[in-house]
Amino acid sequence: MLSSWNANLSIGVASIDADHQLLFRLVDDLQNAISEHEENSVISSVLYSLAAYTDYHFAREERIMAVCGYPDLAAHHGYHEDIRDQVRADCAAFQADPIDFDVQHLTDFLKKWLTLHIMGEDTKLKPYVAANVDKVAEIGEMPLIDLDGIEKDAMDEEWQWPI
Ligand SMILES: [Fe+2]
Repeated sequence: MLSSWNANLSIGVASIDADHQLLFRLVDDLQNAISEHEENSVISSVLYSLAAYTDYHFAREERIMAVCGYPDLAAHHGYHEDIRDQVRADCAAFQADPIDFDVQHLTDFLKKWLTLHIMGEDTKLKPYVAANVDKVAEIGEMPLIDLDGIEKDAMDEEWQWPI
């Protein structure tokens, strides 16, 4: 298991590599929040930041896969959905019972998942982005999350932000 991003995990798209580095850093932030015995509200905010950025990153990665004609996009989307659901469930579990929630176990799991997913799945995208450099460049940056654009009803049902 890797504790941080390194060049072997590069898939050749700067924005995706930067996302992956940031995701490792957010897991580190979560780890540091536990080590430094931060208040539950701090741990919770890092956890929710991680969940929100994971959503943002998956959307970017899948958009790049689509323009490159990546053939395993549907399966890859499924892997993303699984971990996305799990992280959201972890956010809810932490909020419901922060004392018994094992944050250390979660950070170990997330680093392992990130490493295996990037090495085992994301790197399969490399030849496709290499063959579609112009299309990938045309995508440009995705806008940052627009909170006003989020459907409030859907958010209320399954996505409780910490107060
Ligand atoms: Fe991925």
